[in-house]
Amino acid sequence: MKDYETLPFIPIKSGSGAYLEDFDGNRYLDAISSWWVNLFGHANPYINEKIKSQLENLEHVIFAGFTHLPAVELAERLVKLAPRGLEKLFFADNGSSAIEVALKMSFQYFKNGGEVRDIFISLENSYHGETMGALAVGDVALYKETYGEILIKSVQAKSPALVEEDEALESMENRLKQYRGRASAVVIEPLVQCAGGMAMYDASYITRLKALCERYGVFLIADEIAVGFGRTGTMFAFEQAGVSPDFLCLSKGITGGYLPLSVVMTSDEVYGAFYCDYVEGKSFLHSHSYTGNTLACAAANATLDLFENMKVLEKNREKIAHLERSLKRFDTLKNVEETRQRGMIAAVELKGYDPIRRIGLEIYRYALSRGVLLRPLGNVVYFMPPYIVTDEELEKMTDVAFGAISALS
Ligand SMILES: Cc1ncc(COP(=O)(O)O)c(C=O)c1O
Repeated sequence: MKDYETLPFIPIKSGSGAYLEDFDGNRYLDAISSWWVNLFGHANPYINEKIKSQLENLEHVIFAGFTHLPAVELAERLVKLAPRGLEKLFFADNGSSAIEVALKMSFQYFKNGGEVRDIFISLENSYHGETMGALAVGDVALYKETYGEILIKSVQAKSPALVEEDEALESMENRLKQYRGRASAVVIEPLVQCAGGMAMYDASYITRLKALCERYGVFLIADEIAVGFGRTGTMFAFEQAGVSPDFLCLSKGITGGYLPLSVVMTSDEVYGAFYCDYVEGKSFLHSHSYTGNTLACAAANATLDLFENMKVLEKNREKIAHLERSLKRFDTLKNVEETRQRGMIAAVELKGYDPIRRIGLEIYRYALSRGVLLRPLGNVVYFMPPYIVTDEELEKMTDVAFGAISALS
């Protein structure tokens, strides 16, 4: 809040396409899709229309004992789109809750079979949300450290984004050996550890990790909350590894950035472990008031329509190539450590700056004053634009970032 003494909040009046507009008529190019949620621009006419027409019939309904058409349609569509073997869906209403659901289900799956497996394994530098379970499996000290004493048990293995793939897998195998019979699941952010500074790794790690998880009999949870829905070039990042996770957590882009919604997808086999008569006490109990909200599901179906009708993944290939070309010039700057990219996520890591200086804030201010919303993560400047971004807009966001980085002393 203290930062806002010198840079007040910006009240936004409207949005259109990749732009946001404040009450003084200033426009800001949303180069980060409003925290990675917006896929098809602000106030997208098609999604607006679909939400409005849903609103005429039903805004929300209790999701226990009742269901509704948009949820059924969405579930059927996601099962067709997701990696093979994920036939069952659990609805929740935000990303962190999806992680809680996947963790609880993994734990309870074993408990229903008579085993108490109280450890989760995740990667160093990972981020999975900020509710207590999600925070416990994350590894960004900034968010986690304060709450250390009150978190559930998790251990971390080395991240393939920070060390060589073989070393990361060896570290994971050591964890799996050490906690054999106690670990219920491994949870990862496939391909990109977003909040951990857009740290990237190859799909081959995921393929090999899946084999390890099978060998040691633990679940693999894919947190595609940030990278799902086309961000890494394919609909889901896991597709690039040619294997399926046991749980797939989706949120953020699922509604095109309109409304809070999340789903956890899993197999018939996992579902079967909870299917019982009430008295057996094996059912999965987890509910939120707004679970499977009707308007959010309508927005999600509209989002999937746009993917189909606009051939988005195909069209994004040109934008991905454009971003790649634009990134090259950053490599010429002396204060740039590295540039990297996975699909529609591009990052420029800077070197030699003390975190205390908060150059991210300097860059944020510089870009805002030139009409671009950038929000660096520490020393990492990144672009995660909506898919409707034009070539000119891509130029503008990278030009402004280039100017900001060049201007740093
Ligand atoms: C990979 C990942 N998982 C989980 C979350 C948490 O989602 P939410 O902010 O909706 O709780 C985020 C949010 O940034 C995320 O990037």
